[in-house]
Amino acid sequence: MRTQIGIIGAGPAGLLLSQLLHLHGIENVVLEARSRQYVEGRIRAGVLEYDAVRTLEEAGVGARMNAEGLKHFGVNLRFRERTHRIDFADLTGKFVMVYSQHDVVRDLIAARLAAGGTILFEASDVRPCDFESEHPSIRFRHNGQEQTLECDFIAGCDGFHGVCRESIPKAELAIYERTYPFGWLGILADVPPSSEELIYANHERGFALLSMRGRERSRLYLQCAPDEDPEAWSDERIWEELSWRFAVRGEDWHLKRGPITQKSVTPMRSFVAEPMQYGRLFLLGDAAHIVPPTGAKGLNLALADVRVFARALDSYYHKHDSTRLGEYSNTCLRRIWKVERFSWWMTSLLHRFETHSAFERRIQLAELDYVVSSRAASTTLAENYVGLPLE
Ligand code: APR
Ligand code: PHB
Repeated sequence: MRTQIGIIGAGPAGLLLSQLLHLHGIENVVLEARSRQYVEGRIRAGVLEYDAVRTLEEAGVGARMNAEGLKHFGVNLRFRERTHRIDFADLTGKFVMVYSQHDVVRDLIAARLAAGGTILFEASDVRPCDFESEHPSIRFRHNGQEQTLECDFIAGCDGFHGVCRESIPKAELAIYERTYPFGWLGILADVPPSSEELIYANHERGFALLSMRGRERSRLYLQCAPDEDPEAWSDERIWEELSWRFAVRGEDWHLKRGPITQKSVTPMRSFVAEPMQYGRLFLLGDAAHIVPPTGAKGLNLALADVRVFARALDSYYHKHDSTRLGEYSNTCLRRIWKVERFSWWMTSLLHRFETHSAFERRIQLAELDYVVSSRAASTTLAENYVGLPLE
């Protein structure tokens, strides 16, 4: 089998890349370890930056997102039992779209298959090969047969635990990493969201976040130990704890409870691998970087890498210019580090750190107070949250 771009991974990065390349007339094949049902059902992030919305529209997959997604023109920060709204529309003129990652994935898979694209699900033992040469290939097993996909370039879109980053010699990559001393216990509940917009709560008992999946389902998170067992949390205990952390004074507000349909614990880390290219193997999305979910940036960062890479390949094939391809890693990393900084900052601002002294706790609350009371500081949060401009 031969194609121009061999894409490993059918997450949002691999699928959007496949779609954009198709629109540029560049052939590609996607190899995915899991089944279609599995990748379409995986519950992950849910907030799209302003320009990510545009990117998906330009990719031709905006229809369902625009019909079913929720435009949010602000978010709420809650601390000391008061709510403070950050008004994106006023501060930036922009909004974010609350639309699930698995819906983005479903829309992209449907678009690729409708256009006759090739996605091979349940491909096993996938190995990127010969990417130090001019003739890379990907070896894999599919339907019980050993196969080889020859290509011009390999796009490593296989997430944090994939094979691509691991295939690059260790000495060629610099790794920058931080793990946080807590995780998030995330739940999905069959109850309409208790707030129209997201609430990020900083509380003595720990951080909590109220988000949603459409108008009928709530997505909520609470800070927990990184190795917390979700089964140790009964539904009653989860709702009790969330009620504590979202407690508010002087407002007619209460947390709506409903049946919990899913529970899981996510560890929190920041991670960057540099550079994002080795020979003819390029890394995109979670394969190259991870952010803690506090700023809702993981998916958006992956989509931004894809834009840069698709444009670089367009120049390479249609203008015979490889400059952009050579600059791919540096172009992406400039954005990635700013987003790493924002995600780290939001995490530091909102969580309870066991190691904090009473002095540091006071400083944290003072910073929150500053963020919500200074227009300059609110704008800093807002412009990062809706997404920094694309280069
Ligand atoms: N061979 C083929 N496919 C693989 C392999 C492999 N060896 N290893 C992993 N994959 C697949 C995974 O099954 C998954 O479908 O690669 C895909 C990677 O997708 P994601 O993990 O969703 O990563 P990415 O597309 O970069 O999207 C980043 O996803 O993890 C969230 O928070 C993150 O929202 C961000 C987004
Ligand atoms: C989510 O809806 O899953 C979500 C929203 C905002 C975040 C993280 C996750 O910061």
